[in-house]
Amino acid sequence: MFGACLMAKPALVADCVKAMRDSCDIPVTVKHRIGIDDMESYEQLLEFIEPVAAAGCSVFIVHARKAWLQGLSPKENREIPPLNYEWVYRLKRDFPHLTIVINGGIQTLVECQHHLQFVDGVMLGREAYQNPWILAQVDATLFGMDNPANSRDDVIAALLPYAQQQLARGASLNHITRHILGLYQGMPGARKFRRHLSENAYKKAAGIEVLAQACALVAGSHEQQA
Ligand SMILES: Cc1cc2nc3c(=O)[nH]c(=O)nc-3n(C[C@H](O)[C@H](O)[C@H](O)COP(=O)(O)O)c2cc1C
Repeated sequence: MFGACLMAKPALVADCVKAMRDSCDIPVTVKHRIGIDDMESYEQLLEFIEPVAAAGCSVFIVHARKAWLQGLSPKENREIPPLNYEWVYRLKRDFPHLTIVINGGIQTLVECQHHLQFVDGVMLGREAYQNPWILAQVDATLFGMDNPANSRDDVIAALLPYAQQQLARGASLNHITRHILGLYQGMPGARKFRRHLSENAYKKAAGIEVLAQACALVAGSHEQQA
């Protein structure tokens, strides 16, 4: 079994958690929905959480909507069932010793700040992909630390040595650049940057120059705008 359908098998998930905990030292966390199919009540959610927590999982990442196993595609299941953040807050109130991380539909750091009043953490899914620049503001906005990058170009500059190192070890450029396709989202040249990487970074011979060329397209657009 794989994915949200496992919510119907709390004893099996508890068993898996225990087996994983018994055989490794790294934390074992569980990510789940607030229910599936005809699981309608908060009490049914507890029927999942309680045995899994008893088996030794103390970190739960909760996608705050149900999943419909029949009739909805995975993509529709990320959009159609309504979000219910309140149940996730309630989990934290009922199990203060557990680490509860909220997920689903969160797109700004202001929203993160709001959720953090009620839960321990926030997980961003699609927003981190579509607009990875949001992550550069996290340290300063949520943790009162220095901002690690003042500009998107700083992010690229910091990424270059890592990319070079990985390429030297035989990695594909695409595996690195896929995470920054949206870096310039909303800025002049963003589309050219994304397209250049999408069309070239997957090629076998793609080296660091492909990333440099993509960056030049953004810089070029800036100049044209000026
Ligand atoms: C392309 C894609 C693949 C995903 N694959 C998984 C997965 O394998 N396991 C999982 O638990 N969630 C998966 N998710 C769901 C996300 O982890 C997240 O729960 C969901 O997108 C809701 O958060 P968001 O609104 O911040 O995107 C996937 C999401 C996307 C967009």
